Amino acid sequence: MKEVTIRDKVFQESISPERISGRIRELSREISEVWPGTKPLLLSVLNGAFIFTADLIRSLDFDPEVAFVKVSSYGGGMSSTGEVKSLMGLNTDVKGRKVLIVEDIVDTGHTLDWLRRDLREKGAEEVRMVTLLFKPEAFHYDHSPEFIGFRIPNDFVVGYGLDYDQLGRSLPGIYKLKQG
Ligand code: PRP
Repeated sequence: MKEVTIRDKVFQESISPERISGRIRELSREISEVWPGTKPLLLSVLNGAFIFTADLIRSLDFDPEVAFVKVSSYGGGMSSTGEVKSLMGLNTDVKGRKVLIVEDIVDTGHTLDWLRRDLREKGAEEVRMVTLLFKPEAFHYDHSPEFIGFRIPNDFVVGYGLDYDQLGRSLPGIYKLKQG
């Protein structure tokens, strides 16, 4: 079992890099099947989604336009604060466009809900989301992400873009907090 220590916490690998890349290939096919012949704008949510976005766009069978926003709901801690802050806004016109939000993880769903409302207000024609990780037990809303890589328990996870206190993002797999 692969383990890593980040600051004061020990994490163990729960999803290997090979499983992630295999699932990304499947997600790419699902996305192309849902939107045949159209190229949605991919909206990557920084910081966490930067690695997933980089791998996803190179797996899709079309060359997408990619835009970035930066929002924060964790504020450096280990649980969502519930308050979503826009730290870097959208500077691409989404009016009348199909938008695919790209996230590393959906936890409570506050960020997803906030982004969906914001994009609709800005005139997006259709908004969907692909997330690598989804925590069904923590999710507070009815409308789940349309494309989900892995459903995971309510553990704190790092790696593959996700951080603990800004560290751990470069780990190639997903690691969960080791209990006890
Ligand atoms: C994480 C993640 C999502 C959000 C999900 O971002 O990347 O954007 O939290 O949580 P929610 O479903 O409870 O809203 P975070 O705020 O940790 O910022 P980061 O991506 O910059 O690390």
